[in-house]
Amino acid sequence: MSDETSTSLREEVRARYAEAARAVLEPRPGVTAQSVEISATGSCCGSSAGDSCCGAGSAAAEVVGGFSENLYREGETDGLPEEAVLASLGCGNPLAVADLHEGERVLDLGSGGGIDVLLSARRVGPSGFAYGVDMTDEMLTLARANAARAGARNVEFLKGHIEALPLPDASVDVVISNCVINLSTDKPAVLAEMFRVLVPGGRIGITDVVAEDHLTPADRAAAGSYVGCIAGALSRSEYLDGLAVAGFADASVTFTHEAAPGMHSAIIRAVKPATA
Ligand SMILES: C[S@@+](CC[C@H](N)C(=O)[O-])C[C@H]1O[C@@H](n2cnc3c(N)ncnc32)[C@H](O)[C@@H]1O
Repeated sequence: MSDETSTSLREEVRARYAEAARAVLEPRPGVTAQSVEISATGSCCGSSAGDSCCGAGSAAAEVVGGFSENLYREGETDGLPEEAVLASLGCGNPLAVADLHEGERVLDLGSGGGIDVLLSARRVGPSGFAYGVDMTDEMLTLARANAARAGARNVEFLKGHIEALPLPDASVDVVISNCVINLSTDKPAVLAEMFRVLVPGGRIGITDVVAEDHLTPADRAAAGSYVGCIAGALSRSEYLDGLAVAGFADASVTFTHEAAPGMHSAIIRAVKPATA
């Protein structure tokens, strides 16, 4: 992908999520973060508010519920600010994947309105810490307001790109992410950055949109838009190869549900070896 294409896609993604955040920050009747996603491009990465996403106007529309049905277990989001839940735009539940423990330091790539950071902060407790990184100012404003509403002290939302994380080497125990890596225009950089910021022995627990191996990049582009989390999705083999190149071990990509023909919500796990 040329630098120009990459810059313009990233700007399209940023503008879209700025508008999704504004739908929660400045509520208007009938407008939700999820409906902004649908109206912008005809598809969206996720929905927690009952909208059917990922596909009106694309092949993905054939699948009811999209990537985002029942992301969180009953009661799991109880006590979170409503605005954090309303801004949920993921395609899975990385908390269910990451198996967080008291005292751990967690980083959420593309933290949006902050739902997974706030849930992580609860799990790791006051001796742990949860960071979120996002490039969209409006999402950061929303996430910080949600953290204040929740009274969460062990969280910080940082502005930055997931391809160049604003954290030192070996500074977190776990990296999570929910439906964001498919949106990156430089996935090898994201995988390398996850590896860099993890401590030796650290792990990733990610949910993302992943294509079946037989779908070519052209097939994926025909199935849906880039900002709608379809066209930029890696295939399962591409994910596994990329993780291996970055240095990860014990990698797995597990499809959880098919949301469009050949396109799945998936769980991605891997560890940074404890010794080099
Ligand atoms: C589909 S939303 C998911 C938000 C959140 N993870 C959730 O589950 O609700 C994607 C988020 O990733 C952010 N994002 C997309 N590409 C990014 C990049 N290259 N660097 C940093 N943030 C990015 C967007 O601003 C947006 O907040």
